[in-house]
Amino acid sequence: MSSVTVRVPAKVNVQLSVGPLREDGYHDLVNVFHAVSIFDEVVAHESESITVTVGGNWADRVPIDNENLAIQAARALAKHAGRTYGAALVIHKAIPVAGGMAGGSADAAGALVACNELWGLGLPFDDLMEIAGDLGSDVPFSLLGGTAVGIGRGEQLSELPTGGRFHWVFAVAEGGLSTAAVYAECDRLRAATGAEIPWPQLSDPLLEALGAGDARKLGAYLTNDLQPAALTLRPQLADTLEAGRQYGALGAIVSGSGPTCAFLATDAAHADRMAAALTTSGITRTAIPAHGPVPGAVVV
Ligand code: C5P
Repeated sequence: MSSVTVRVPAKVNVQLSVGPLREDGYHDLVNVFHAVSIFDEVVAHESESITVTVGGNWADRVPIDNENLAIQAARALAKHAGRTYGAALVIHKAIPVAGGMAGGSADAAGALVACNELWGLGLPFDDLMEIAGDLGSDVPFSLLGGTAVGIGRGEQLSELPTGGRFHWVFAVAEGGLSTAAVYAECDRLRAATGAEIPWPQLSDPLLEALGAGDARKLGAYLTNDLQPAALTLRPQLADTLEAGRQYGALGAIVSGSGPTCAFLATDAAHADRMAAALTTSGITRTAIPAHGPVPGAVVV
């Protein structure tokens, strides 16, 4: 086999409840992930060494050195297999970079699946999930896809049933936000109020909405504890969220650590109309309609 191509989805968090800061610098979460139909493609070609090149949207903002999570993933997989392997990774980006949609995690998950196949390792899914959890809190979900709740750092996943397809619009912001910076701002805002931080709990009405495929109800129960921090760091996102509500969004929320904003639509046609309205009004340069849930990383 001379090359393997893998398609990996973006995610939005339909519930992101953040517990107190842990001693290891992470937060315990109840993190309900939902995979949506914006896909990066990761191709692994036979090669002597592990390298990466990036094309597609926002490619110039992706690091191609040791910071690159796909390179880290390929190296971690080779180490797990106990041998030196090479792969020339070619990533085609459609997922916003540093946008709160797990774009870097998607590329890492894609690299794991592609190299597992290219190198003929045949490692089972559970092994890939374990390596994924060490690479980043969101990487296991990028492998799994669908809709799932993550606890711990977000890496301990249980699949959640959904009763239908949900339609979304994602308004891409200029420039990204650092996940670590948004969590730190969340801690700072909380310390300033001095209020006790409750232990995160999975929302029952949100589960019911997902199970019933009820977009109206899901829209009403979307929550993101990182949103106040993202809005403090990027105040103009408040206008973006308000614009989506004006165009009839059933729910409007910052996606993960942001700055991408997510809008839940009534159906595919409404999502298309909302995306067009958001761009023509100048509120965002790029608004992407998408649906979920979709599968995780798959060989195509
Ligand atoms: O796990 P990952 O490397 O993606 O996390 C990036 C950063 O986000 C961490 O360094 C940490 O600051 C923050 N984070 C957190 N609690 C989590 C997940 C991430 O504080 N559960």
